[in-house]
Amino acid sequence: MRISKTNLGRMFGAIALTGMISGVALAAVAPKDAVVQRQANFKKIGGTFKALNDQLRSPAPDKAQIMVLANQLKSLTPGIPTWFPVGSGVEAGVKTAAKAEIWQKPDVFKGHAKALQVETDKLAGIAGGGDIEAIKAQANVVKNKCSACHSDFRQKDS
Ligand code: HEC
Repeated sequence: MRISKTNLGRMFGAIALTGMISGVALAAVAPKDAVVQRQANFKKIGGTFKALNDQLRSPAPDKAQIMVLANQLKSLTPGIPTWFPVGSGVEAGVKTAAKAEIWQKPDVFKGHAKALQVETDKLAGIAGGGDIEAIKAQANVVKNKCSACHSDFRQKDS
């Protein structure tokens, strides 16, 4: 078979395109796995926030521990919008409390995530100051950001 320059060009074009497509497929997480991962991430967020509130309620709060937990919470929140790729709702075929509205109103959802990020950043800053009453007040603001998103975007009965 005679391979002309044009054919060669087409061949390399096709190879490059295949490479790109498989690259995209490799980079993307399967929707089912995205659900499992984000639930594990939220469990981490929940556990960290609970430990922080337990400290705040304790008669002798450990300020160093509070700082560690507040910074841990701060580092967990910025990723939230990326934990919800398209297709990772109920259609993924695994149990999820994520409502379809997440993908219907992505800006509202991202707004909730951003609000949480802003307030957990503040919490980490205030935690550094060591004023327990101020930390408690900010922890309450954070809690309201969790609830605001849950009431709009998370199924109640799950
Ligand atoms: C931007 C929206 C949003 C914010 C903000 C948010 N969550 Fe959630 N959270 C969700 C959604 C949606 C789910 C359901 C995920 C699923 O089931 O796939 C969830 C699930 C959870 C779960 C259950 C995880 C499991 O499956 O066991 C916990 C615990 C949790 N969130 C804690 C928190 C805490 C604590 C905060 C605040 C510090 C918070 N969330 C902030 C949207 C949010």
